[in-house]
Amino acid sequence: MLKFKSINSIPTKFSESFLFFSFSDEKEVIKTFSEVEELLEINVPGRIKKSISKNNESQNLFYLDDGSLVLLQKCDKKEKLNSDTFRRSSASAIKKIISLKLKDVIVSIPKLDADSIHKNFTSLPAESRPCQEQAGSEYFLQSILEGLSLGSYKYTTYLSKNERTVPGISIFYPALKAAEINKIILLTNKITKHVFLARDLQNTPGSDLYPEALASKVKSLGKRNPKIKVRVLGFDEIRKRKMGGLEAVGKGSERKPRFIIMEYFGMDKKKSPYVIVGKGITFDSGGISIKPAADMWEMKGDMSGAATTIAVLLTAAELKLKVNLIGLVPAAENMPSGSSMRPGDIIRTASGKSIEIDNTDAEGRLILADALEYAVRYKPKVVIDLATLTGACVVALGQFASGLFTHEDELARNLVRASNLTGERTWRLPLWEDYHNLIKSDFADVKNVGGKWGGAITAACFLEKFVDKKYKWAHLDIAGPAFAEENISYTSKTMTGYGVRLLIQFLMDEIKDH
Ligand code: BES
Ligand code: MN
Ligand code: ZN
Repeated sequence: MLKFKSINSIPTKFSESFLFFSFSDEKEVIKTFSEVEELLEINVPGRIKKSISKNNESQNLFYLDDGSLVLLQKCDKKEKLNSDTFRRSSASAIKKIISLKLKDVIVSIPKLDADSIHKNFTSLPAESRPCQEQAGSEYFLQSILEGLSLGSYKYTTYLSKNERTVPGISIFYPALKAAEINKIILLTNKITKHVFLARDLQNTPGSDLYPEALASKVKSLGKRNPKIKVRVLGFDEIRKRKMGGLEAVGKGSERKPRFIIMEYFGMDKKKSPYVIVGKGITFDSGGISIKPAADMWEMKGDMSGAATTIAVLLTAAELKLKVNLIGLVPAAENMPSGSSMRPGDIIRTASGKSIEIDNTDAEGRLILADALEYAVRYKPKVVIDLATLTGACVVALGQFASGLFTHEDELARNLVRASNLTGERTWRLPLWEDYHNLIKSDFADVKNVGGKWGGAITAACFLEKFVDKKYKWAHLDIAGPAFAEENISYTSKTMTGYGVRLLIQFLMDEIKDH
């Protein structure tokens, strides 16, 4: 993790490893140091030595005569700046800084005109636009810190030699007082720390992160905060409770399934909670309907929904959010073996509904069915599930947005608004009756696959059959944005921790509204 501190002036003497970082909306290459001085609002006459890296038009690098460096990181045109452009350019700056192996960095941020930057959100439809109060100077600083922090992530657990060092960062931001800056530093650290946790969990190989290992990891994480209670149901308990979906998916593996329950009560226990459900397939081989070899390794991240759920619970507790929050994680490994479920099998979930298994690779919805049933006992206000559920959702929306499915317009609005602020975008897709008709079975109440077309929607319709009408429900298919090909700079390669910031933002907005 990067270490931030705030400073209220830029030192006039630099030691070797110092570096400046500034925002500018200029696209041309800066040639003279006086231009740099002007941008940084500092005055160090005659110190420029040479300019390097002309090849990258968004970054300019200068050496000063004492050996220190100035990196000018440019953002975008003023009319395009928003929280996410700050995140992205901060991330590319920190990547450069880390590659230069610098120890101390001063980040100098010019005063931002929050009002005019906020106007840039007006390209969004009014109902999904972040409000002025959400997106002011404070939030823009937060997004810069997030970009720096998130862009510095690398999964290093299995490297025998790790020579990577991350720099200490001093923030110089004249628009806010030191105390205000420190508050934002603390908040950002608490959030990004948990995005890192989610990414670490996603990255951990299936051989080391199997259902039982995930359960004990959650237990030990839960101990960090006395406000978090963790309970784990073992395989026998899962069978006893007739959680037939989780049993069917998990029984083919040597490593048997678990059902993980996290509870955080941030207010009067009688107030109905928000329930987050996360798909926890620790590895998805497809089972008997086995997947092709190419990119199958990525399925070690098929517990991304679980990772986000766990991280959100821990963040909410650390931020002491005044909300009651339950996290439910059905965890299983989907493997082919002599004890696996077969295509053609008919199973029964905790709800009592029967399911015909058409394809054993459509396993996520089976374990989620049991979790959505389990949620009922909490009399939840809202249930949100997150799942790397379908490749079809990635075909539809690519990697830049999750699919959002809900019948609740207000809930959809609030999730979309939060997503536009955090840059973890989501886009609503329908749950029409026509799609429900595609998962009718000749032999059971429902079939686990809906045919060739609209796979993200038929999967969501399948889940809806197991949703209790007593609570409001939204489903996020995160199969695209949970994984990345480094096309957004602040998400690390492959595993992104998608949804942690989105849900925390959503919950913080909910608390404010009501
Ligand atoms: N975990 C996969 C979905 C997935 C695929 C996530 C690629 C991320 C990247 C899920 O369990 C799955 O296999 N879904 C099938 C469903 C099909 C058999 C109806 C799919 O999308 O192909
Ligand atoms: Mn699958
Ligand atoms: Zn899966």
